[in-house]
Amino acid sequence: MLREVFEVLDLKNIRIWGGRPLEGTVNIQGSKNAVLPMMAAAVLHKGVTVLHGCPRIADVFCMEKILSHLGAKISWKGNSLYLDCSSLKNTDIPEQYACQMRCSIILLGALLGRFGRGAIAPPGGCVIGERPIDLHLSMLEALGTHIEEHEDLLRAYAPDLHGRDLRFQQQSVGATEHGIITAVLAKGVTYLENCAREPEILWLARFLNGMGASVKGAGTGEILVEGVAALRDSVFTVPPDRIVAGTYLCAAAATRGKICIENPPVSELPSFLGIYGKMGGQYDMVGGKLIADASRAYGPITRLETEVYPGFSTDLQSPVMAVLSLARGKSHIRENIFEDRFRVAEDLVHMGAHIRINGRDAYIDGTERLRGCRVTAQELRGGAALILAGLAAEGETTVENFQLVERGYEHIQEDIRCLGGTVSVEEI
Ligand code: UD1
Repeated sequence: MLREVFEVLDLKNIRIWGGRPLEGTVNIQGSKNAVLPMMAAAVLHKGVTVLHGCPRIADVFCMEKILSHLGAKISWKGNSLYLDCSSLKNTDIPEQYACQMRCSIILLGALLGRFGRGAIAPPGGCVIGERPIDLHLSMLEALGTHIEEHEDLLRAYAPDLHGRDLRFQQQSVGATEHGIITAVLAKGVTYLENCAREPEILWLARFLNGMGASVKGAGTGEILVEGVAALRDSVFTVPPDRIVAGTYLCAAAATRGKICIENPPVSELPSFLGIYGKMGGQYDMVGGKLIADASRAYGPITRLETEVYPGFSTDLQSPVMAVLSLARGKSHIRENIFEDRFRVAEDLVHMGAHIRINGRDAYIDGTERLRGCRVTAQELRGGAALILAGLAAEGETTVENFQLVERGYEHIQEDIRCLGGTVSVEEI
């Protein structure tokens, strides 16, 4: 999977001259995980959808290419994305895009809602474990879809999508979003149980309801979707990215800095802010801005477990590992969501961190300093964690495969510069 991602994105490195506390103000980009399902859901509507505050990142560009292939007319004005899905001509998602981005699977439900058929190559995404799609497929089948699994292609037919009661075997963000999208134009009422509660699901419901859908209960474990006949044109503003905000707070903590976040999604970071506080980080809300003082964020965390929301997000596990590498004491992280999300540890060790991995557990013995060296991003959040480590480390760090970080961070290099850090990006 990693091979395919490498083949598509241009190779880049980021060089970091570290060792200085970050100080300054940043504005948080629109949320990647919120906007991708919205773009997929736009396929349901035979008309125009406008998304303001849309991040210009690789995953959004990939979704844009898929929608263009389907026949959408797409344009950008700054960070506003205009999607005209009035006259789509294709119902297949080519392998070259599907393999780049796991969440492309949710386009299948949108195509079924709109056309009653769709086809997709098995989806890809970050290299952080097996990431099966069984929950997606059983949801589609429950709503009346017939699925043919060919070796490299899933073909789905649903001439008569209909609502029904459905309980997910396990909480999944993507499967919950997919269930909502598939049910929007289905006949009758769909009642989804054991849904994931991540904020992006609530944002998707708000977005769809603004288009004329009827989605109730998003953000709780039980969601009710009443099918409607058609949707209408809409304009929506993408919320700030909670994972990017958490990453920047980790950057402040790793460098013992003080930063201001102008548009913080504070209410979406309950567990993260709890951990940040336990590490010794402080923050105040002043006029809607978050003023963080992380100059004493060196406390270890005796046990941190990743959980479904509102528990600690797996997406912030690697950035926090970089911070805990520099804590004054021993920490323990347990990764409960993705079995292969400790890949960054090896490179952190290369930089001088003391980390031992045992299955889903990481044991970290904090060190006083990291040293700059050449390391390699293997996936999005792990790559971001290496940049944070580089900002805290003495000397120069080069993080190879910076293009993987650009899948989710719109302008991390400019943001670091706004915070007084020194970085440069080079294309290979
Ligand atoms: C989304 C996020 C990702 C985040 C993850 C967990 C997007 C675009 N991505 O990914 O950044 O890390 O939520 O918060 O929003 N699972 C199955 N079968 C399935 C689907 C999932 O077993 O059909 C398992 C996964 O392997 C994983 C767990 O369920 O162990 C949670 O995955 P899920 O919530 O689906 O993550 P994504 O939606 O892929």
